[in-house]
Amino acid sequence: RTVYLNGTYLPETEARVSIFDRGFLMADGVYEVTSVLGGRLIDFSGHLIRLQRSLDELGISNPLTSDEWLAAHRELVAVNKITDGMVYLQVTRGNPGDRDFAWGEGVAPTVVLFTQDKPGLADNPQALTGLRVISIPDIRWGRRDIKTVQLLYPSMAKMMAKKAGVDDAWFVEDGNVTEGTSNNVYIVKGNKIITRPLSNDILHGITRAAVLRFAKEAQFEIEERLFTVEEAKAADEAFTTSASAFVMPVVEIDGAAIGTGKPGRVAPRLREIYLDEMR
Ligand code: PDD
Repeated sequence: RTVYLNGTYLPETEARVSIFDRGFLMADGVYEVTSVLGGRLIDFSGHLIRLQRSLDELGISNPLTSDEWLAAHRELVAVNKITDGMVYLQVTRGNPGDRDFAWGEGVAPTVVLFTQDKPGLADNPQALTGLRVISIPDIRWGRRDIKTVQLLYPSMAKMMAKKAGVDDAWFVEDGNVTEGTSNNVYIVKGNKIITRPLSNDILHGITRAAVLRFAKEAQFEIEERLFTVEEAKAADEAFTTSASAFVMPVVEIDGAAIGTGKPGRVAPRLREIYLDEMR
């Protein structure tokens, strides 16, 4: 596989980053994941806009122009012959040459891009059966709107889900669901789609924005408000959105079936609309 590192395309085995890079020592960096379907980038401009926002929030200067970001993505998709999969990008504050909590100015950010091949990405059979999730406390930091590479707790959450024999975990804070380990979450009641409003408490999902737009166009009612696990259990349907899994029905939470315990009417329809519109 060919990867991108600081302006150069090279084999993954030759890509080297300093042990003093603040991404490695301090998780001081941000990332984006863009899906590729049929060789085309999905909602790329949305991801670039959020990247800029994450960088601005951390005071890291954007090392590439939009055209350069696009060219690097396209080049990796082409050389690695990605039909379905994703492009991962990461920008860290770089290597100041030593370990220090305070960072200085004038250090060049480290830029890494690589692809992941996922044949049949849009035909995930789990979309037909739905996901089972557990709820766990949200003990992450207070700036979840910044897409940092600080992913230890989400990784632990995924392992807790695995150990519990289910697919994913939903985070709960002050009694309300925030989001999934790596997705935004929704419940459905009748014609109404309920999801947590944007704030510093959740990532502002690029897929969330697109799906809510399409849902409105399809005459669904959108209610952005907090909801509890109990409310989710009593809902007609539940689902998640993310750039890598699109729209996924959720059929069970903490062992309780949601609705019929099978994907309902709304989530599969939104998945179909999203995939139709975006590819
Ligand atoms: N995860 N919330 C969290 C905590 C996430 O990590 C993600 C994305 C989302 C959904 O955002 P978007 O629709 O822009 O992908 C919500 C990516 C896919 C990942 O970490 O792989």
